[in-house]
Amino acid sequence: MHSQAINRGDTVKERLSFLVQYLRNPKEVGALLPSGSAISSLMTREINPSHGPVLELGPGTGSFTRAILARGIRADDLTLVETNTEFCSLLQRDFPGVHVHCMNAADIATSDMFGGRQVGAVVCGVPFLLLKPGEATAILKSVFEVMRPDAALYQVTYGFTHPFPRDVLRELDLVATHRGRTLLNAPPASVYRLMRRSASGLCH
Ligand SMILES: C[S@@+](CC[C@H](N)C(=O)[O-])C[C@H]1O[C@@H](n2cnc3c(N)ncnc32)[C@H](O)[C@@H]1O
Repeated sequence: MHSQAINRGDTVKERLSFLVQYLRNPKEVGALLPSGSAISSLMTREINPSHGPVLELGPGTGSFTRAILARGIRADDLTLVETNTEFCSLLQRDFPGVHVHCMNAADIATSDMFGGRQVGAVVCGVPFLLLKPGEATAILKSVFEVMRPDAALYQVTYGFTHPFPRDVLRELDLVATHRGRTLLNAPPASVYRLMRRSASGLCH
């Protein structure tokens, strides 16, 4: 496989900074290196400017952020929520005009970051499989509170099924569908789309 094909992160500096943060806090960061361009395209290909405001959770060094902006989303219509303070500083520097909030995704619903507007799409890099019990539930509840009824959350995962707790999906009546997988990532990665059942086109 050509090394460009797995193209993880934009620069060597970005990859190094990601690796350092992973070594400091492996459970928070959840991957050794940033996502590459193939999975970034898969994560964002269903998003267009009509979905603004768009929310990204766990942007890290901004692989998906770049892909979202390349889909035509205005910087002012994009909000990033990231717990890692080093990544927050990098994101503020590298993505002028984009709203960066250094906080836990579980607290989104309690902060009025969208000025009353509802979010049209969510791109999520948070490592759900590594979260503490209850944290995944708190994040999903909080995020679906700020989303439009027909909005979708796009989740990256390295597993062979979606990483969401099934009891929460039942409780919130959410449906996860596989949207694609790429081998051009190390490790290979999949995208799942999470929506309210009422908007997913699937019957009960
Ligand atoms: C696997 S990395 C993905 C980074 C980037 N999206 C990519 O694909 O290259 C996970 C990111 O989620 C962030 N994160 C973990 N838990 C979080 C939480 N509860 N709220 C917001 N960000 C979180 C980590 O700090 C890290 O930047």
